[in-house]
Amino acid sequence: MNRLDGKIALISGAARGIGAETARLMVEAGARVIIGDILDDRGRETVREIGVDSAAVFQHLDVTSEEDWSAAIGAAVTRWGGLDVLVNNAGMFLGKGIEEASLDEWNRLCAVNLTGVFLGTKLAVPSLRERGKTSPHGSGIVNLASVAGLVGSQLDPLYSMTKGGVTLFTKSAALEFARKGYRIRVNSIHPGVIQTDMGEQTFVSRARNLGTNDVDSARQLALSTHPIGRLGTPSDIAKGIVFLASDDAGFMTGAGLVVDGGLTAQ
Ligand code: NAI
Repeated sequence: MNRLDGKIALISGAARGIGAETARLMVEAGARVIIGDILDDRGRETVREIGVDSAAVFQHLDVTSEEDWSAAIGAAVTRWGGLDVLVNNAGMFLGKGIEEASLDEWNRLCAVNLTGVFLGTKLAVPSLRERGKTSPHGSGIVNLASVAGLVGSQLDPLYSMTKGGVTLFTKSAALEFARKGYRIRVNSIHPGVIQTDMGEQTFVSRARNLGTNDVDSARQLALSTHPIGRLGTPSDIAKGIVFLASDDAGFMTGAGLVVDGGLTAQ
């Protein structure tokens, strides 16, 4: 189940966190993976850690750059003959209120969280379409949205605006590709608070909003919003991404998989 044997995947922002764990699980499931990120050293280290017979390679990828996307997709095609799976995982969190955020900060957030997803999707379509023709359930795109793309965020309204965009872009892209007869499934995943560098950033913002430097208390408060009684791990989310990318999700397109420990059930 959830196997990816013979599949070729490109994951943006996969040097660390959820993306790195997804790369590891995808290789374990039989895929070959391009790890794209702006953190070159960390990305190469992640490749070394995965360490399975060159099944993972690093490629410098700034998701805001059309040239970088072309090079990363080109690398998958040249090295392994195509692309079956794109995971639009790279993202950034700002952690500022509407009155505190500057226009430059907003533009950067949009460039990474929205333009990055648009460019990746647009430039990967020809390769995904090609491989989709012969795969039983087509090719797949998985977009990292967030619970903040489903409900409002207390911590970061601008981040929430970008993730809301990712949620609906996922559905619109799924509909467009289906209408055109492309065999490309597009789905999103919506994590609750996950223990990564970004997760840590949310605790710092939460503490700041409470007027303290007590990040541990902020972490406890974040935990208390998850009915399941713990915060998420990168593996909790990576498993969902692998499922959406696999043929087991062959009847899913335009869907959002919520993996949030019950946070948005309340
Ligand atoms: P992280 O901060 O640990 O990792 C994000 C990765 O994206 C980093 O390796 C970073 O270098 C990379 N990145 C940033 N800008 C980039 C750019 N311009 N081009 C290429 N790569 C770039 O974050 P985490 O937690 O692993 O998040 C992954 C995704 O999951 C993000 O889209 C995030 O918004 C989403 N998410 C995370 C949650 C959490 O609590 N950690 C909750 C909900 C969604």
